[in-house]
Amino acid sequence: MEIDYGPLAGLIGTWQGNRGLDVSPEPNDGTEINPYYETITFEVAGDVDNAETQKLVVIRYHQVVQRKSNDEVFHDQVGHWMWDAKAGVVMQSLAIPRGVCLVAGGKAETVKDEIGSIVLSVAAKLGDPDWGIVESPFMRDNASTLEYRHEMIISPDRLSYDQTTVLDIYGRRFDHTDESVLTRA
Ligand code: HEM
Repeated sequence: MEIDYGPLAGLIGTWQGNRGLDVSPEPNDGTEINPYYETITFEVAGDVDNAETQKLVVIRYHQVVQRKSNDEVFHDQVGHWMWDAKAGVVMQSLAIPRGVCLVAGGKAETVKDEIGSIVLSVAAKLGDPDWGIVESPFMRDNASTLEYRHEMIISPDRLSYDQTTVLDIYGRRFDHTDESVLTRA
């Protein structure tokens, strides 16, 4: 039987965007602003059963982000989006190559617009017993990720997201943000 990917179905495919904006921390109360372009590829990864009770449908993704100023890849992220239809829960697990992983949880909502856009919103917090963050000892001590909040809007030909990663770095709390709009490649 064909797998129903529910609210994740609209993600499948390759998306490109050149309107990204990253806000990152710099030492001495500094802030770095990086306009970026990116490619995100979402692929079907089937379904899984957990403890013979929970059924998840899974989409695997890879996000490659390049600085407009020098074309360098400055963020590379892999992860999965998962949908638990019975519980009505959306999950995003991700890994970034700085020594940080997380499992964020949340929900999917259909927007009352003519095209039936879907909004996925998930969040994770360091030390949260439900949706947590895991980091290397170096990152824990020097650049800790305290919170992650992500909202993604899926429309037939447009994908956008807005995310805030709250960091504890350079002796302060910093809202590291990323937002982007993509279209199907
Ligand atoms: C589009 C997505 C993202 C982009 C473009 C991006 C970009 C950046 C940049 C440019 C820095 C500053 C690096 C430096 O000055 O050396 C940074 C720092 C950091 N980012 Fe991201 N980031 C993204 C998403 C994330 C996510 C999802 C997480 C974690 C869940 C994360 C965690 C961190 C951490 C912990 C640092 C501190 C390391 C440091 O500044 O030395 N980032 N990011």
